[in-house]
Formats: sequence, structure tokens, C-alpha cells
Amino acid sequence: MATVRIGMVGCGRMGNVHAGLLEKIPEAQIVATCDILPDRAEKMAAKWKARPYTDHRAMLAAEDLDAVYVCTPTRTHAEIVLNAARKGCHIFVEKPFTMDLADAYRAAEAVRQAGVIGCVAYHWRYVPFLAEAERLLQGKPVSLVVAHWYWSKPPIEWLRDRHEGGGQMVDQVTHLVDLCRHFGGEVEEVYAAYSERAYPPGEFNNWDGYAVTLRCANGTVGSVYSTYALFYTVRDEPSVDIIARDLLLRIRPKELEIQTPKETRVLLEEAPHHEHVNRAFVQACAQGRPDLIKTPMDEGLVSLAITLAANESAVRGRPVRMAEFLAEAKTRAGLA
Ligand SMILES: NC(=O)c1ccc[n+]([C@@H]2O[C@H](COP(=O)([O-])OP(=O)(O)OC[C@H]3O[C@@H](n4cnc5c(N)ncnc54)[C@H](O)[C@@H]3O)[C@@H](O)[C@H]2O)c1
Repeated sequence: MATVRIGMVGCGRMGNVHAGLLEKIPEAQIVATCDILPDRAEKMAAKWKARPYTDHRAMLAAEDLDAVYVCTPTRTHAEIVLNAARKGCHIFVEKPFTMDLADAYRAAEAVRQAGVIGCVAYHWRYVPFLAEAERLLQGKPVSLVVAHWYWSKPPIEWLRDRHEGGGQMVDQVTHLVDLCRHFGGEVEEVYAAYSERAYPPGEFNNWDGYAVTLRCANGTVGSVYSTYALFYTVRDEPSVDIIARDLLLRIRPKELEIQTPKETRVLLEEAPHHEHVNRAFVQACAQGRPDLIKTPMDEGLVSLAITLAANESAVRGRPVRMAEFLAEAKTRAGLA
């Protein structure tokens, strides 16, 4: 069994979530850790008997790594992905892929040129019950997708600022938008309206109400709405509804509910969030199997693009056509 030697960049909340799950995967070995806060890198390094760094370039120069996890604030992802790809490392990057779509194009291109495996961590896509949803939808045109996420101000300080976190669509609801795309089809046009009314000026530099309409190229339509105005203990779970003739599929974090005129049944998921995506990535690296990755860089790029287009639509007050939005970023990336 091949060992996958991993460098963990960003030893904060998500870095520790993934490290905890990697402990259960025998092929995974964290051999280096990196965080600009030395105590965070050292704490994780001590647990894994790894070497700690405060600069990812120093880590890449000194270590012989198979894979790099990028779990730093979103604005820093692109540079770390580019440098890791140039060193020939497989890359697991947290969603959202980047903050700027041109950076996503450049990073995805670097991964492609290096011929390494890339994975954007859309963990909802790896939950086994999705296979049943896909089976039930075979041959059935999707009429409507509806997604929602009610939440509070994010617990992490930098994420609260829309310029750093991107706002709720980009940072959090991106998981649901990714599922809407996966089941509904490629999005052709996005229209969004956001509000900023729940908090007094200066308290929260972000939108707190989000209403987004999606139109897919195949004719499916979608509605995505969310809020940062509530509180952590709110009794409501995020969900994605996929609706076809006589079929309602409701995806929640730990269950898939299936309703037809003949039956209602629920498939449960017991594994912790993020477990399946970590297993898929480590197996893909250990076995040289990019086909195990459901969310490679190009997929992560498009899901990011829809949420950035929603922000653009909300700011400009007009619909955004995805083809133009993507082409503009590709040109800025120098790849058109
Ligand atoms: N998949 C999910 O469900 C999920 C959930 C939450 C956050 N995220 C994403 O994960 C990423 C990290 O978020 P988080 O909540 O763990 O943030 P965090 O602030 O808890 O952790 C980020 C860590 O990166 C370190 N860091 C910052 N710049 C760095 C750099 N240049 N090099 C090395 N280390 C650096 C920070 O010191 C910090 O320890 C973000 O992109 C976020 O959007 C994903």
C-alpha cells in the first residue's frame, strides 16, 4: 500500500478537521505542516511527528511531498496551489477555490500542466447516497432546484468580511450551488439580489440576505436563498431540493429524502462530514486514479464562478451571463 506523504498548509479550523480524518486513513501520512502562526504548525507537527514550517515555499523546497492540502484563507489559495503544482504535488484545496476567477483559471492550468491530481473540497459530492439520487434521476429532466442555508455571522473573523470571505454565496452556499449544477445542469444565467439590513453599519461588513435565480442551459431553473442574519443554534438545516416529474429529492447534510407518489424513504449518512472526500483524494493519490475525484479544479472553478457571478449580479443589479463572465476571467488570466 503506497503511503501518501502530505504537507498540510493552514493548520486552523479546516486543516485540523482534515488532519483528524486523515488519521483514519492508513495510506495518509502528514510529514510537514505549515502555518504563518508557528504554534499552530508546531502543534499539528508534534501530533504527526512531522516538520513544521511558517512559509509554504520553504516547506515545498525542503520536503519530498506527494500531496499538499491547502486550508488557508481563500485569498491565499491560488499562490499555494500554483507553487505546489510546480513542485509536482497532488493538491487538495478547500472551497472556494480562489477569490478571483482569473486566479482559478491560472491555478487550474498549472495543475493541468503539472499532470497532478487536483481536488476542490466540495465534500457534499462524495456522500454515497448521492449515487441513489443520480440513479433515480436517470432519464428524468429536472424541472427545478431549490437550495437554502440559514446561518449566523461566520465564527472566523476574516470570513466575516465580504472582501476576504466573498460573502455567504461564495464561501458557504457554494456547496449547494455545486449540487444544483451537478443535478440541474450547467448554469447559463444568474440573477441575484442581496440585502444588508440585519446589522447596523460597521458591525458586519457583509450581505446578510441572499436571493439568487439560476437558469440552466438545458431549461432547468433554480432558486438559491440564504442568510447570515440568524444564530448558530437556529433549528434549520441547509438543503437542496431536486424536483423532476413525480420525484422530490431533498438533500440535507446527513440524509437524502426521496418522495414519489408511491413511497417516501430516507437514506442516512453516518460518516463525519469530509470523510469521503478525504478518502477519495488519498486513494486517488495512492493509486494514481484521478477518476476518483468528482470535483477536480475545473469543476471547482465553475461552481466558484456561479457564486462570483451572483455577487456581480447583486452589485450591478442585472443578470450575468455565465459564458461572458467565464470568458472575461479567462482573458484576464492570459489563457483565452
Ligand atoms: N469545506 C468546508 O465545509 C469549509 C468550512 C469552513 C471553511 N472552509 C474553507 O477552508 C479555508 C480555511 O478556512 P478555516 O475556517 O480553516 O480558516 P482558519 O482561519 O481557521 O484557518 C486558516 C489557517 O491558515 C493560516 N494561514 C493564513 N495564511 C497562511 C499562509 N499564507 N500560509 C500558511 N498558513 C496560513 C492561518 O494562520 C490559520 O491558522 C477557507 O478557504 C474556507 O473558506 C471550508
